[in-house]
Amino acid sequence: MMGRMFRDTLQPMAMGPLRIEWPVFLAPMAGYTDGSFRSLCLEQGCGAVVTEMTSSQGLIRSRRRTMRVLERWGGEHPIGAQLYGSDPGAMAEAADLVAGLGAFDFLDVNAGCPMPKIRNRGDGAGLMRNPARMAEIVRAVVAAADGRLPVTVKTRIGWCPDTVNVMETTAGVEEAGAAAIFLHGRVARLRHSGEVDWALIAAVKAARRVPVIGNGGFKSAEDMFRVVRETGIDGVMVGRGALGNPWLFRDARDLAAGRQPSQPTVDEVRTAIHEQLRRGIELMKRREPKELKLGAELTACLVMRPHLVRYLRGFRRFGELARTLEERVDATSLLERVEGVLASGRKSEAPRIA
Ligand SMILES: Cc1cc2nc3c(=O)[nH]c(=O)nc-3n(C[C@H](O)[C@H](O)[C@H](O)COP(=O)(O)O)c2cc1C
Repeated sequence: MMGRMFRDTLQPMAMGPLRIEWPVFLAPMAGYTDGSFRSLCLEQGCGAVVTEMTSSQGLIRSRRRTMRVLERWGGEHPIGAQLYGSDPGAMAEAADLVAGLGAFDFLDVNAGCPMPKIRNRGDGAGLMRNPARMAEIVRAVVAAADGRLPVTVKTRIGWCPDTVNVMETTAGVEEAGAAAIFLHGRVARLRHSGEVDWALIAAVKAARRVPVIGNGGFKSAEDMFRVVRETGIDGVMVGRGALGNPWLFRDARDLAAGRQPSQPTVDEVRTAIHEQLRRGIELMKRREPKELKLGAELTACLVMRPHLVRYLRGFRRFGELARTLEERVDATSLLERVEGVLASGRKSEAPRIA
């Protein structure tokens, strides 16, 4: 009974010609969701992933370097490449380049990033202040993709509480040919904190023909299914809730299959950490040595540290690890420290008697 209720809640959806069997997406998070983490999420049952945001201007000017952001781990699919920019010509050129790679399943336009250096140039969330430009960009990207890839848009409900214009912006991008809309239910001013306006997301879903995928604040699989039932959205996109917890995607599959989600075992946490770091190092090795001051291994260890904080927060000796994370360490010593924390056991479980 429980299984049926959850199973029927999320249905396959179409983004233009692309069918997404299981519409539970990992959100793009710059600095966090490279191929090493995305691939783990896909293995745990995530339905589709998106690259970190990639500068359209950067792609055109220094193709090789910016291409690194689009680097994938093995056969990650379905995967979208996310581009940002506010010049329709540059966005079109970058879209043509990405479509020509033949490596991606869809192209996503970033129309929601609130970081000052992005939005002050009119890129990312800056586009929400100029709905005509947002639509023009989508039209240009759709034309450049020329049927090779569907084009989606990831945006927010508005710029600030007084300028919530999501009905206008989403009508514009739908008209311009977007195949789906990822909608983060917070205004740009709030960045990544505060309440998510699910009622407004439900209203946008009701008003649009194209699928609307809701985003913001999902912490458990139960949350995802509840919100889908309450709002009628076509899918969910999970950001920070998946960091240190790629098993959130397994939980969603479990619920849909009528199984009770289970906490990852300590062995599973260890394997995920080792595997993510190994993949991270391999991905860094593909870069030009001159791009990495510290070399592939140390750089990958640095990238791994904020993930470790999330993986290990619930363990007793986590505090000791957090204190030493400031030091530059190689993979062997990093994993030794991880082992010490894992061996201390979870705070929620009775201490082991040695
Ligand atoms: C560190 C960080 C980096 C992010 N980078 C991107 C990005 O590159 N592209 C994008 O569209 N959104 C980006 N976001 C926004 C997330 O995709 C997502 O919309 C937001 O975190 C809300 O979802 P959540 O509450 O599930 O985390 C980023 C968010 C964080 C916290």
